[in-house]
Amino acid sequence: MGCGKSKGKKSSVEQRQRTPQNDRYTRDPTQPGSNAKNFNICKNYTCTSFFHSLHTPHDTVTNDLFHRHGISVCDVCLRNSDWWKAKSLTSGKEGIIPSNYVEEEESLDTNEWFFKNTNRKDAERILLAPANKPGAFLIRKSETTEGCFSMTVRDVNDSGASVVKHYKIRTLDDGGFYISPRITFKKMDELIKHYQKQPDGLCRRIGKACVKPKGEIQWDEDAWEISKESIRMVKRLGAGQFGEVWLALYNNNTKVAVKTLKPGTMSVDAFLQEANLMKNLRHDHLVRLLAVITKTEPIFIITEFMANGSLLDFLKSPPGRRIQLPKQIDFGAQIAEGMAYIEKKNYIHRDLRAANILVSETLLCKVADFGLARVIEENEYSASEGAKFPIKWTAPEAINYGSFTIKSDMWSFGILLYEIITHGKIPYTGLNNAEVMARVQRGYRIPQPELCPSKLYEIMTTCWKSSPEERPTFDYMQSILEDYFTATEDQYQQQP
Ligand SMILES: Nc1ncnc2c1ncn2[C@@H]1O[C@H](COP(=O)(O)OP(=O)(O)OP(=O)(O)O)[C@@H](O)[C@H]1O
Ligand SMILES: [Mg+2]
Repeated sequence: MGCGKSKGKKSSVEQRQRTPQNDRYTRDPTQPGSNAKNFNICKNYTCTSFFHSLHTPHDTVTNDLFHRHGISVCDVCLRNSDWWKAKSLTSGKEGIIPSNYVEEEESLDTNEWFFKNTNRKDAERILLAPANKPGAFLIRKSETTEGCFSMTVRDVNDSGASVVKHYKIRTLDDGGFYISPRITFKKMDELIKHYQKQPDGLCRRIGKACVKPKGEIQWDEDAWEISKESIRMVKRLGAGQFGEVWLALYNNNTKVAVKTLKPGTMSVDAFLQEANLMKNLRHDHLVRLLAVITKTEPIFIITEFMANGSLLDFLKSPPGRRIQLPKQIDFGAQIAEGMAYIEKKNYIHRDLRAANILVSETLLCKVADFGLARVIEENEYSASEGAKFPIKWTAPEAINYGSFTIKSDMWSFGILLYEIITHGKIPYTGLNNAEVMARVQRGYRIPQPELCPSKLYEIMTTCWKSSPEERPTFDYMQSILEDYFTATEDQYQQQP
């Protein structure tokens, strides 16, 4: 999103000295003789860096539209006029303001410790990665309070376990920052330096900035249908029922995964239609669809490469390396988060199971293969008798009537939780597909596995309610799993 550049940085003092009376004051565009005719009413969008006003806006022009900070300006006007169209980030109100009333706030984006849009839970995951030591910290935008920030710090508790604490950083009307009102700072840098010298009420002295996981793959938006020549296959990673998956290099420089689909698996038109929907689904917990090659068979689907392969294989790691509680619950929460996004977008996965979850280098779980099942040719898959149909993961109404909804995805999610807690066991051990269908119809459900906490089993059984409407939403499921161990803990540390 484009955001106009501010007209050179001026000191706050210089700005403050300007008054509507002095000669540098921009004339009121609503008054005769003003340059109002040059003023373009521009499209209304909010730009990413925000501005704060250093003056109370001139009341004849802007009335009470703006408070003293949190104003964003859109760029078209900037080029044409000294009068900018602005939108208040806090109230959403719009109006025009003289450009010398605002000053671009220093951008935090380039700082190594700034993890702008990382949410609370991901901040915890990233800080707990082995590359970070106690004291490692990051700063992110607050999810709950517009204009505020959060500092997340890695600490050690009394029993030596790594824990993560969150502190809210509030902003002052004139652009400063503070964690405790006892001590305020003009710049975020200064705040950080202060808490690097002494804890001053925080859990500990903060240390180095959190190590940034390798950022999201850079991909040219226009590279959608790409040429086969741009792809060089490197290593076969695995095979499913409908084709193979390869590690490949795109343009000899970008690692990607390439899924090759056996000819006849799906119609190219149907696939392209679905892929056009899928490419717009983007989230940290969804495997990103990058490009396709459909001009020649077999169809290639190019996705983000996930270094730790499928969750199913990962769960079956040798006993010493298997994930345990609470990591198992965290994996469930990450998948629920990806699915909550799919739910919000009114999309349906249709084939949710551990084999279709992939694990990144930094152990983030991402949902893969969403929507693909819909385009697999009827006789191959959708017909419930088809040998390849994943009966044990599928809700009864989807098997019986083809009624796939986000609620049938929730049924599958319950089975996926079973896979996680049992380190990748096949569900309904000892029963074949026909037996499972018949028994589930009569009300039978997977019994509580050994080593599965009752609280988690209860959550699983809510996914398997006969009536789809009674199953939870993914949004709710995400919150239940995220709060599984911390339901009673305060959201934020007390202000020191
Ligand atoms: N993006 C990726 N990055 C790394 N490895 C991948 C990626 N996608 C798939 N794989 C590997 O390839 C294997 C095969 O994936 P594929 O989706 O074809 O089959 P599946 O989901 O395991 O089974 P099915 O054919 O029943 O759907 C996976 O188990 C995983 O190990
Ligand atoms: Mg798959």
